[in-house]
Amino acid sequence: MDFKNKVVIVTGASSGIGEVTAYHLARLSAKLVLTGRNEAKLKEVAQKVEKTKGVKPVVVKADLTVDEDVKRIVTETIKCFGQIDILINNAGAGVVAGLRDGVKHLDDMINLNLRSVYLLTQLAADYIIKTKGNVVIVSSVAAFMPIAEFMPYCVAKAGLDMFTKCAAKDLAKHGVRVNSVNPGPVESEFHERLGLGNKKTDEIMQNRKDDSPLHKIATGEEVAELIIFLASDCAKSITGSIYVIDNGYSIKK
Ligand SMILES: NC(=O)c1ccc[n+]([C@@H]2O[C@H](COP(=O)([O-])OP(=O)(O)OC[C@H]3O[C@@H](n4cnc5c(N)ncnc54)[C@H](OP(=O)(O)O)[C@@H]3O)[C@@H](O)[C@H]2O)c1
Repeated sequence: MDFKNKVVIVTGASSGIGEVTAYHLARLSAKLVLTGRNEAKLKEVAQKVEKTKGVKPVVVKADLTVDEDVKRIVTETIKCFGQIDILINNAGAGVVAGLRDGVKHLDDMINLNLRSVYLLTQLAADYIIKTKGNVVIVSSVAAFMPIAEFMPYCVAKAGLDMFTKCAAKDLAKHGVRVNSVNPGPVESEFHERLGLGNKKTDEIMQNRKDDSPLHKIATGEEVAELIIFLASDCAKSITGSIYVIDNGYSIKK
């Protein structure tokens, strides 16, 4: 598998799955565009990426809930590399909220986990069509597992899976593939960022592990490998597909 001369945008490259995906792609010689809000962390990741194969990545500090920032990801990529081959829509976050917690959480979850992906993919589409590239989206098993206390997140990720399938149909006539990776629990900062504190976070992760038929939690590296498989020519016959990686969590009782 080789990504030499492929320009790959990775959103959420400052942490977790996106960060590990960036290192993996760097080892495969990709030209990377790394985005996130935490500029200091992005620069650290960029330094490690550059050391790997000597290809200097482009860093774009961007809040995906701000349309101007989303547009800048595309304009900066074209300014620096002149093309886009692969878009990895990985960034995302959750919130602990149920039906009676109001609609603000729903708006936030839709804006970050669905609308920003729609907008960025739309803005990048013409460039990806030119290179006959592809799009990989990071969704979640929450897209099809109703979790009452994560309701806005589940709803947004469910919409995201439909986006994957519609975008795959829309872009197939141009030879562009769109696929989704749907992880169950993964080791990353995702659960810490829910703000529940260390004790509660550890408890949740232990419960998720116990509930998973394979009794383990996936690593970011494992998810990255699946993302990269779908982004590569090895997956040239795959589009509109939802790939679950969850140690069997979604088939638990
Ligand atoms: N970890 C899990 O258990 C799990 C399970 C299923 C699905 N997922 C999905 O996997 C994806 C990656 O999450 P992760 O596990 O790697 O979590 P993570 O370590 O918390 O990383 C999340 C990434 O998203 C970025 N991000 C968050 N809000 C953003 C915003 N408003 N604008 C721009 N970037 C933003 C963060 O960057 P900054 O902090 O720099 O903004 C960070 O790089 C997400 O889509 C998540 O829903 C995770």
